[in-house]
Amino acid sequence: MKPQISPKTYRVKSFGCQMNVYDGERMGELLSEQGLSKAPDGEDADLVVLNTCHIREKAAEKIYSDIGRLTKGKTQQKAPMIAVAGCVAQAEGEEIMNRAPAVSMVVGPQAYHRLPEMLDKAVKGERATDTDMPAIAKFDSLPERKRRSPTAFLTVQEGCDKFCTYCVVPYTRGAEISRPFSDLLGEAHKLIETGAREITLLGQNVNAWSGEDEAGRAVGLAGLIRALARFDGLERIRYTTSHPNDMDDALIAAHGEIDKLMPYLHLPVQSGNDRVLKAMNRSHTAEGYLRLLERFREVRPDIALSGDFIVGFPGETETEFEDTLKLVDEVRYAQAYSFKYSPRPGTPAATMDNQIAKEVMDDRLQRLQARIDRDQFAFNKSKAGETCSVLVERKGKHPGQWLGKSPWLQSVWIEGDVRIGDMVEVDLVEAGPNSLRGELLGSR
Ligand code: SAH
Ligand code: SF4
Ligand code: F3S
Repeated sequence: MKPQISPKTYRVKSFGCQMNVYDGERMGELLSEQGLSKAPDGEDADLVVLNTCHIREKAAEKIYSDIGRLTKGKTQQKAPMIAVAGCVAQAEGEEIMNRAPAVSMVVGPQAYHRLPEMLDKAVKGERATDTDMPAIAKFDSLPERKRRSPTAFLTVQEGCDKFCTYCVVPYTRGAEISRPFSDLLGEAHKLIETGAREITLLGQNVNAWSGEDEAGRAVGLAGLIRALARFDGLERIRYTTSHPNDMDDALIAAHGEIDKLMPYLHLPVQSGNDRVLKAMNRSHTAEGYLRLLERFREVRPDIALSGDFIVGFPGETETEFEDTLKLVDEVRYAQAYSFKYSPRPGTPAATMDNQIAKEVMDDRLQRLQARIDRDQFAFNKSKAGETCSVLVERKGKHPGQWLGKSPWLQSVWIEGDVRIGDMVEVDLVEAGPNSLRGELLGSR
């Protein structure tokens, strides 16, 4: 590769989960620290970071088409410098380097703090790959948080030791690690100083977080949430994604005791059938999952429940799939995500017998989504007529219209004289399938 002109502007394109969004922001901050500036919307950037996701098919293929689009008809001097980051970089770094000569850097999710050194090499014309997984080193090498937004993500835990048989995350993100308590309070403090009123704690298994508080006592996620709740200026705390097996009494109790902890729980179950759950290596039963949700509802009756589902896992029969529908009927989710099973290279399920035909998966997904949509609409309607707080996050499509979130993570539209970052009291006057309309009562 020829030496390249040092890039002045950058763009980070993040795909996948919220942790990737968080990583994307941190890479942006790191590049800003190197003197690059974010390319204005709609303008070409000198450096493009594709922050990829590997969770389901097509994600990897998508990178090659993105690279093609970025370089099409351009000489090397005119084309942007390209870095591939995220979970596809981790899983297929070498292949990307071989298949896409236009890529200068490949950097894994645990190694992106070394982007500046890689950039120096790239400018000299040397291609660089870094997919090391040095536990938690990256957080110590990242610049201070500078973003300005009323809502912020904060990664507290990374990696996964669960090895569900369908999933790539343990391979792309490595083993479970928790960031230290004091580092997290420090980062939260910075985020609040720069305008965050809501913080969402992130982890591939966020409730597996553990640490030691200032007094050296062992604390779990509930203890961290309690400490954050004492911060003035921070008004809402959320966390995602939890695993049923890491749930503890303290976190359940926290939902009944900490006002700032929002009444929302995303707890993936994947299937309502115990044989399928076992084949998935989920290590919980459908019944155990339902009992757990009951306990949350006891301490916080209005809690909005959310989950993830996979349809068409290898060997899933029609009757087994119907158990998933039954579970959905029983839970009545406020919102949930459902996916067709996608065989991931290197995972045990990919080579299991009885892979399910696409048409069967399509049909099951459609039936499952119809129930979830029905319950989501019912949940939204159950809130119409109530008053709640809404944190204003952005402008709506029409002039004078604003969009924010209810405590239950529903999108709420309002009209009126408000600003981004205002916490307003609204009457929820009308419910739609995906959002509610609110009328302003006052702001604080
Ligand atoms: N750690 C979280 C989220 C992991 S990925 C958890 O365990 O819940 C987010 C979701 O993607 C999963 O919950 C699962 O529903 C889905 N998913 C993961 N691997 C998949 C695959 N191979 N095919 C289809 N969906 C998958
Ligand atoms: Fe993947 Fe299972 Fe880990 Fe979630 S718990 S990240 S689904 S292996
Ligand atoms: Fe995707 Fe990696 Fe997140 S595979 S879902 S970006 S952990």
